Amino acid sequence: MSEGLEDVVAARTVLSEVDGQAGRLIIRGWTLDQLVGRARFEDAVSLLFDGFFDDLPREIGPALGEARVAVFDEVSALDDGLLKLEPVEAMRALMARLPDGEDLATALKLIAAPAVFLPAVVRLQSGEAPVAPDASLSHAADLLRMLHGRAAPEGHAEALDAYLVTVCDHGLNASTFAARVTASTRAGLTSAVLSGVSALKGPLHGGAPGPVIEMLDAIGRPEDARAWIEAALDRGERLMGFGHRIYKVRDPRADALKGAVRRLAERSDRLPGRLAFAESVEAAALAILRERKPDRPLDVNVEFFTALLLEALAFPPAAFTGVFSIGRVAGWIAHAREQLTSGRLIRPQSTYSGPAPLKAA
Ligand code: ACO
Repeated sequence: MSEGLEDVVAARTVLSEVDGQAGRLIIRGWTLDQLVGRARFEDAVSLLFDGFFDDLPREIGPALGEARVAVFDEVSALDDGLLKLEPVEAMRALMARLPDGEDLATALKLIAAPAVFLPAVVRLQSGEAPVAPDASLSHAADLLRMLHGRAAPEGHAEALDAYLVTVCDHGLNASTFAARVTASTRAGLTSAVLSGVSALKGPLHGGAPGPVIEMLDAIGRPEDARAWIEAALDRGERLMGFGHRIYKVRDPRADALKGAVRRLAERSDRLPGRLAFAESVEAAALAILRERKPDRPLDVNVEFFTALLLEALAFPPAAFTGVFSIGRVAGWIAHAREQLTSGRLIRPQSTYSGPAPLKAA
């Protein structure tokens, strides 16, 4: 039995390879370095969907723009009850209104949905009216415009594209596995994506970047990093943004995102200082983790610089997990299609350790 299923291979995939020893991520034959900064999110969707839909257009952007416009109607279903939820939970509830299906139209609506619903939730929660999508913009530019109510400043859509491409797929991570399990029952793409969102939101997976900001804010000054981190570890807490099940070295996505933050920092007065502070916390954390866990290589993961990048793009920390789902939904759908077309029903076994039945008197 392997409780966390480590070392268990449960799928054959053409989508992505996570090499935990080399610290390398390949997405359909491209390394992360080859994609980030060059591909837009739309290109990543086309790359992942290739071969999984017969009617995939050469340029997916216009169809994705129309899908954003089509799903915007659902925003009117956001009532006071839903708006009391965390943004990712309210976003998920709206996504559950979309019908299940296996076709490209369903897939495009599911890609569009989190990018339209999350900004609407965030705006309504802060008392502002939702902004309708503009089909003529790129997915990243439109998302930022729907969030902030104005065109994104120069460089911001490119930075968000870098993020969305970086997180679009990552082997058989927990949320992708959840999506594949659901797809394997033939429940449909919406159900598979909802399984993915639900698994993603936990703090051990995609829920970590919000707490990274809390950690940085609680530390406050570089000289206080060591004491704060030591105290957190003494309380038995985990440092958010560090450690990974597969990567035994640095998560390559961390540096891809750090590069995107650096590019943004060139146009900002405040960001260079914030980045330098985060790097000092990173260095302190790595040194302390090495001292305390010399046998377990613990390095920085994608979430640490996700937090910095999304903060720089003025997403509220409560929405960070939802933004992760806006990128990863592309991978969930491709994996769901792959599971359906070439995989079997996923149905492992368990070992019973409960009481034996009572013997009849
Ligand atoms: N801070 C402190 N100690 C840690 C951390 C951490 N971030 N991560 C692992 N450890 C310790 C564990 O306590 C454990 O120590 P022990 O053997 O003395 O109990 C040892 O390192 C091994 O940890 P595992 O639990 O075996 O690691 P696992 O592979 O299960 O966990 C995980 C991976 C969940 C990502 C973990 O590193 C963690 O909780 N990190 C913080 C949350 C986080 O950043 N999540 C985002 C991950 S990236 C993503 O999913 C997109």
